[in-house]
Amino acid sequence: MIKLGVNIDHIATVRNARGEDHPYPYLMAKYSMDSGANSITIHLREDRRHINDKDLKIISSLKKVPLNLEISSNPKMIKLAIKFKPNYVCIVPEKRQEITTEGGLNLIKNKKKIKFAVNKLNSSSIRTSLFINPSIKDIKLSKNIGAKCVEIHTGKISNLVKKNKKYHKEFLNIKKCSIYANSIGLEVHAGHGLDYKTTKILKKIKQIKEYNIGHFIIGESIKYGLRNVIKKFKTILNKN
Ligand code: PXP
Repeated sequence: MIKLGVNIDHIATVRNARGEDHPYPYLMAKYSMDSGANSITIHLREDRRHINDKDLKIISSLKKVPLNLEISSNPKMIKLAIKFKPNYVCIVPEKRQEITTEGGLNLIKNKKKIKFAVNKLNSSSIRTSLFINPSIKDIKLSKNIGAKCVEIHTGKISNLVKKNKKYHKEFLNIKKCSIYANSIGLEVHAGHGLDYKTTKILKKIKQIKEYNIGHFIIGESIKYGLRNVIKKFKTILNKN
């Protein structure tokens, strides 16, 4: 089975826009699982712009919610992961100014720090993944570092598809990388910028076992949820 991880960061973005509690990320984590998700992803950013420490505490305590925590390799973040023991950790690069995670990790520059983090997480029995660009060099490094999985950054192919540009070369690159990663014993995941169209394209790569999707799912849910919520308000307003 190909797994779907639902990233609920943007539930927290909406919640934070009001500085109150609604919508509750932990309830949406449960609801996503009830709706068929295989896991829940949250990115605890160093600036806590969406998911915060309280969310991590609550969501990591939910029994029926396999949690994939995205964090930077900052030792403080690794310490938090070990404290709350999510099922999985995906180490991602993080820049304060970026709107979203713009690319994969720089494994050469940060090898020592990332290896230290992966070792710590592996010895706490947390499944480790590294968010990387589709490159054979980074896959070899990921294996060398000791990660169990790689998550391939699909931002480039997603942008090409959305702009109706030629994406075949990037598709073949992701395919080559996925086949190679799988052949050396790394589980292959994919994420970033995915929508229905890009997911259908990438699904042809059989080595990709997990997709982590956030922004599009939350955006699309507004479309499918709007009618029900409006109906409910109309009933409240017009029922005697
Ligand atoms: N996977 C990783 C490692 C990410 O950092 C992100 C973005 O936070 C996603 C998947 C989800 O990307 P999107 O929100 O564009 O679907």
